Amino acid sequence: MPIEWNEQYAVGDARTDSQHRNLFTYVNRLEQLIEEGRKRGLDRQAVENLFIFLDAYVNTHFAYEELCMTLRACPAARKNKEAHDKFLAFWNEFNRQHNPNSVGLVALEELHAALAGWLTQHICRIDVALRKN
Ligand SMILES: [Fe+2]
Repeated sequence: MPIEWNEQYAVGDARTDSQHRNLFTYVNRLEQLIEEGRKRGLDRQAVENLFIFLDAYVNTHFAYEELCMTLRACPAARKNKEAHDKFLAFWNEFNRQHNPNSVGLVALEELHAALAGWLTQHICRIDVALRKN
C-alpha cells in the first residue's frame, strides 16, 4: 500500500519537505516496480533509475539536512547524523551485494521495507525536531 506524505512529516523547511516528498514518491514507485516485477519480470531500467535516485538522495539530502540542523543548533543534530550514517552503511552494503542488473525481488522487498521504515520512523521521530528551531 502506498505511503502518502502528510503534515505529520512536515519539518518546517521547504527544501527538506520537498526532498522528503520526493523520497515518498520513489518508495511508492519501488513498491509498484516490485508488484509489476512479480507479474512480468523486473523493469531493469526502472530499477537502475531508482538506484541512481537513492544514491544521489542519501548523499545530497542527508548532507543538506545535517547542515540545517547544525546551523539551527538543533538538539537532534547528533542523533540525526548517527541515524543517517547507519542508513548510509545499509545502503552501501546493499550496493556492494546487489546491482540494478541482477538484484532480485526478495532483495528489493527488503530495500522497500527499510525505506518504508525510514519514512515512517526516522522522519517523524528525528527530522521533525527541525520544527522547533
Ligand atoms: Fe534525517
